[in-house]
Amino acid sequence: MSRVKLVVANWKMYLSVHESSLLVNRLNKTVKVHRGVEVVLSPSYLSLQPISQEIDRRKFRLAAQDGYFIDEGAYTGAVSLSQMRDLVHYAIIGHSERRRYFHESLDEVRDKVAAAVRNGIVPILCVGETKEERAQRETKQVLHDQVVTALANLTSQDVENIVIAYEPVWAIGADQPAPPDAIAEAISWIRFQVRELYGQATEEAVRLLYGGSDEPEYVAAIMEVNGVDGLLVGRASLNYERFSDIVTGVHLAALSESKVE
Ligand code: 13P
Repeated sequence: MSRVKLVVANWKMYLSVHESSLLVNRLNKTVKVHRGVEVVLSPSYLSLQPISQEIDRRKFRLAAQDGYFIDEGAYTGAVSLSQMRDLVHYAIIGHSERRRYFHESLDEVRDKVAAAVRNGIVPILCVGETKEERAQRETKQVLHDQVVTALANLTSQDVENIVIAYEPVWAIGADQPAPPDAIAEAISWIRFQVRELYGQATEEAVRLLYGGSDEPEYVAAIMEVNGVDGLLVGRASLNYERFSDIVTGVHLAALSESKVE
């Protein structure tokens, strides 16, 4: 099954507007256009507008890192998905850092996913278990609850177009990514949930990413995992050479997959 590969740079709360522009400038020159690989940059809200004028549009699309689920109103400090609809193609929703530090509940994540879809933005739904949950053997239950709740208000057509990122919390900001067999188990479990809820055609269309300590040297092994369609990259995406090498790695993985098919 050849789905378009996807590499997403999550810059988190790093880089000023000026620094973001400098990085975009470098990425415009370094990252190559590869057929079958889509590359997405996710800067802070503040940098989205200026960067939208600076990216090479043949190479990059933009994602928000979050977005409020109500379209407009008296919600001081919030930025709605509706306000960003002309600016971004994607929105990262339910990142574990938002669940942890901003206490986002399962229901709030569900409402944000629905708001993204309603506003024509593709949600990149992040799911993943903590170290403690893994130790308690709760991984499958946690992933089930996160996936089933978040997709609750969507049709199978909506779900075909969304992206789900498996980001085990214990592998974020770590020394190395989760081992391929752990990624394989989680990815196939998530695909199973989607199939149970929406059927095989939807499961075959939905794109799944892995995120957590992605670096160029790990890309080949991660992309070999059955059902992984790309990467959600944190730290390495702040360095244009490492990020560009990751994109090349995903491209090479896509090429070898198409030869096998
Ligand atoms: P790191 O790549 O820095 O581990 O971050 C992963 C992540 O949280 C991407 O959303």
